[in-house]
Amino acid sequence: MEDFKERIQRLKREKDAFIIAHYYQRREIQEVADFIGDSLELSRKCTEIPNRIIVFCGVYFMAEIAKILAPEKKVLIPYRNAGCLLADMAIPEEIEKAKKKHPDAKIIAYVNTYAEVKAASDIICTSANAGEVIRKVDADKVIFLPDKNLGAYHKRSVNKEVILWNGYCPVHNRITWDSIERVKKRHPDALVIVHPECPPDVTERADFVGSTSQLVNFVEKSPHKKFIVGTEEGTLFKMQKVAPNKEFLLPDPVPLCDQMKMITPSRLITCLEEEIYEVQVPQDVAERAKRAIEAMLSLK
Ligand code: 13P
Ligand code: SF4
Repeated sequence: MEDFKERIQRLKREKDAFIIAHYYQRREIQEVADFIGDSLELSRKCTEIPNRIIVFCGVYFMAEIAKILAPEKKVLIPYRNAGCLLADMAIPEEIEKAKKKHPDAKIIAYVNTYAEVKAASDIICTSANAGEVIRKVDADKVIFLPDKNLGAYHKRSVNKEVILWNGYCPVHNRITWDSIERVKKRHPDALVIVHPECPPDVTERADFVGSTSQLVNFVEKSPHKKFIVGTEEGTLFKMQKVAPNKEFLLPDPVPLCDQMKMITPSRLITCLEEEIYEVQVPQDVAERAKRAIEAMLSLK
């Protein structure tokens, strides 16, 4: 009798499929993925996959990017309702209004947006390069959407007018300093490292702030042995791999993205067997969104 891993390996061969997974995925999913990364790394990877099918284990907006960058591929997501509550906080109609109000501003859309929002923007960014994009974009005034915490974090260090949107990630926004301190009291020697989607009083007090991949790189290289990790709990899987002799703790309560966890082993099997759910992006939206994505990928 085949176990889950063997079944996935066989299906991948039979279907000529490549599985990519975000760091916030369940451990069982990360274990069978061909490539794991944060949203920037996953976007880059999508352009170089030779297989017929890309199975995207992440949330819907990420799978849309794969389809936009590799339109000739069949892009599947194991559960089509795996959305992102932050991405829901910006819609194109509101962006058009903001553009009219601030005609001299460039629109920077965080990667956590749907394709039609990217299509209405000048450039996109991820948590790994948001500061760089704000600094390098050709405008003195920018509208940064939808994450107000990420925008506020970079606004402090750039010499530009940054207009913030009123959006936030409910998972990271719930990481308060209290939720970290409850753990820190028992582990005063632990270093506090957090994602920039956390609220300003957390990013201001943390020892290190970085995107998911920057947090992983940090724990690998740091001489410290113990960390309180202020981001989604799935990230610990990779941290434990790159730094097996170090200790990783999570805030209390544990930050967990229910949307990411909607991708389950049984849904992944059904996805490969039945080739569902196929991700489609209307061509005109895809073309405009691609311009904004490529503006980021080609930023020097
Ligand atoms: P990264 O850009 O760090 O992968 O973050 C994506 C995300 O969904 C954060 O909540
Ligand atoms: Fe969206 Fe937040 Fe989940 Fe990331 S952690 S996918 S921003 S809801």
